[in-house]
Amino acid sequence: PEQTKMAQRPKTFEFEGITMSRYFTDNWDKVKNFKARPDDVVVATYPKAGTTWMSEIVDQLYFGGMQKDGSTPPVYERVPFLEFYNETFKGTDLIESLQTSPRLIKTHLPVQLVPQSFWEQNCRIIYIARNPKDTMVSFYHFDRMNLVQPEPGPWEEYIHKFNNGQLVFGSWYDHVQGWWDKSKSYSKIHYVFFEDMKEDPARELSRLCSFLALSPSETHKQSVLGKTRFDKMKKSTAAHFSQIPAFDESVSPFMRKGMVGDWKNHFTVAQNEAFDEEYRRRMKNSDLRFRMEI
Ligand code: A3P
Repeated sequence: PEQTKMAQRPKTFEFEGITMSRYFTDNWDKVKNFKARPDDVVVATYPKAGTTWMSEIVDQLYFGGMQKDGSTPPVYERVPFLEFYNETFKGTDLIESLQTSPRLIKTHLPVQLVPQSFWEQNCRIIYIARNPKDTMVSFYHFDRMNLVQPEPGPWEEYIHKFNNGQLVFGSWYDHVQGWWDKSKSYSKIHYVFFEDMKEDPARELSRLCSFLALSPSETHKQSVLGKTRFDKMKKSTAAHFSQIPAFDESVSPFMRKGMVGDWKNHFTVAQNEAFDEEYRRRMKNSDLRFRMEI
């Protein structure tokens, strides 16, 4: 069985100029022509920036984590992944079967590949960005345990792949910058940093509520904060991905560490210096600022 599992690991290729695997392009016609509704709320990120955390927060805010029938299915059914497509999970179908309103939708697409309809309908979009070093570490461990992702290979090479835009969903630099630039012209993007959420979850929740035009009671806010803490979500099977067959949590848990600065346990001094130099060069003309520690 291990052999079959390994054989499932996909190849990557260039798609519209972005490194992708078939799991994100096989349903492209439907994704591209997806019909958004004006009240759809989108959670957009480069992978591993805190998508699941934000998905849970938003779902808890709107619905207390519950579907119409009172059930709490796993988060990937409450906040379906738009472009994901395999035999078991078809993002567009899952979204269409949602009974709740607004619909909550997850995407990792770079801003230029987002289906036109979301812009036309003037949908609210929450974008979460996370510092590149922690993002990379998180992605590396995710690629080790997730058999629908390409093999990560050795860590040293992984850093190069990250810098060269060779991980799925392409360049982190282009992703965070593309969405940042878009947020200056499209007012309905709420651009949030993972580090800010860790530093002060209550402050970030209030800012999020203003953006969504929600005014939950203090009790409701406290409940959302409590249920979306890392330790709570790690224990809750509904909050994460423990039932996904492609995930081998004996290799690395999906809810891994949830902290800022774990990169220090992975980068050697030399790797860190080289990365910092590359980072400075790439971000020279950017007014985006990331915190590598808090
Ligand atoms: P680590 O691998 O660094 O632990 P995504 O949901 O975009 O795939 O991101 C996953 C990352 O977010 C993982 O990071 C995971 O542990 C972290 N995460 C998930 N829920 C969290 C929470 N409630 N608080 C802090 N971090 C969380």
